[in-house]
Amino acid sequence: MSQRSCLSVILAAGEGTRMKSAMPKVLHAIAGLPMVAHVVKAAEAARATGLALVIGHGADEMRKAVQKFAPKAETFVQEKRLGTAHAVLAAREAIAKGYDDILVMFGDTPLIDAAALAAARQKLAEGAAVAVIGFRPPSPTGYGRLIEKGGRLVAIREEKDCSEAEKKIGFCNAGMMAVAGNQALRLLDKVGNNNAKGEFYLTDIVELAGADGLDVVATEASFESALGINNRAELAEAEAIWQARRRRDAMLAGVTLIAPETVYFSHDTEIGADTIVEPHVWFGPGVKIASGAKIHAFSHIEGATIASNCDVGPFARLRPGADLRQKAKVGNFCEVKQATIEEGAKVNHLTYIGDARVGAGANIGAGTITCNYDGFSKFFTDIGEGAFVGSNSALVAPVTIGKGGYVASGSVITESVPDDALAFGRARQKTLPGKGKELRERFASAAAAKKRAAE
Ligand code: UD1
Ligand code: CA
Repeated sequence: MSQRSCLSVILAAGEGTRMKSAMPKVLHAIAGLPMVAHVVKAAEAARATGLALVIGHGADEMRKAVQKFAPKAETFVQEKRLGTAHAVLAAREAIAKGYDDILVMFGDTPLIDAAALAAARQKLAEGAAVAVIGFRPPSPTGYGRLIEKGGRLVAIREEKDCSEAEKKIGFCNAGMMAVAGNQALRLLDKVGNNNAKGEFYLTDIVELAGADGLDVVATEASFESALGINNRAELAEAEAIWQARRRRDAMLAGVTLIAPETVYFSHDTEIGADTIVEPHVWFGPGVKIASGAKIHAFSHIEGATIASNCDVGPFARLRPGADLRQKAKVGNFCEVKQATIEEGAKVNHLTYIGDARVGAGANIGAGTITCNYDGFSKFFTDIGEGAFVGSNSALVAPVTIGKGGYVASGSVITESVPDDALAFGRARQKTLPGKGKELRERFASAAAAKKRAAE
């Protein structure tokens, strides 16, 4: 089967009015990736060699988005929404190129799994002209029913055109199907719109193919993989299913999730074995974690690389460009952005490190801030190997703390500190013996005098 060429035609011309959104429905994200991009990924995993996207509503926005996740896809605009067969025919030019298989998919069915698509393609390889992906939803209402006779699929009847007896059928059309490339255009061109909705139904090709004596079959996919998204409640349901699958995969791959239902992954999160993730952790896009790391509770991590045996959180925020090398530590209420924390360095408490390098083994005291921004531009702070930055210091970039440099607590460092130097960036302390007691007595008698005057 892998030898056969395959065009995936993804229908995404619907308006998605029930999303109540200015953005096209299929661009709403699951795990940080537009749902139509999930569909594209599934098509690719089922070895589709070509990709045609049928778009309508918000065509410009769609084209721009598609560029990002499927740069090789061709887009076709369906000007009027006249039904699913009409939508597929918008991609006529691509279909006419002579692929072995045409895989029709919906852009709003993001959980479709590649195995179900591959199973339908396999039926074509075995000689079927059409293989429809069916499923058994808890309630069949609203779906097209699959009408079978002797192991053959003879028709798909839309709910509105069903007889009472047909309405009782539980096996439904998931919407997706594989069609032999040499039959697809011929069958689609025969579809009419003589039905309750007056639409050109893709599903009609089942009967048309049967009438020509061609082999038509149904395969079965899970209910989840056929879940279509129409509103934001369904979007959240799909997200929950996606997350549950991903958590399970992570755990089976050797990651400990203490409270899995509270950990959120992105579509591209990479996480190595023997990493422990405590409850309530969020992984935004672009996170790569090696093995043996500890991610403590309530950490928010995106665009970050975390090497093996690092310790992060609780309550850490790692933003894009955070690059933690082996055994680095970023503790509670610390934010790291566009900065490398080299091997074994510690940034343990209440600190902001942005546009910086923290050298191996350096220790950054509580409350340290890299002042990287002057309201217009960003500047770099370079902290050398083994440096020590005392608590509550402000490092005003651009600035360098040399190897083994030592910054006294409470410093505002505006000039670079050479290797092994000690820098004070604050006024020296002055201590006046007995003055504390004297001051207290003065304040007490002034308060007493005020009270007497008021009586
Ligand atoms: C369709 C199926 C139905 C199946 C159900 C599964 C048909 C005729 N019916 O019904 O058997 O049970 O899906 O969810 O295929 N679209 C376009 N252009 C159009 C019409 C539709 O791009 O002119 C796109 C929509 O954006 C959507 C998909 O095709 O992604 C399905 O269309 P929709 O109108 O939702 O079909 P259903 O009535 O749900
Ligand atoms: Ca639908």
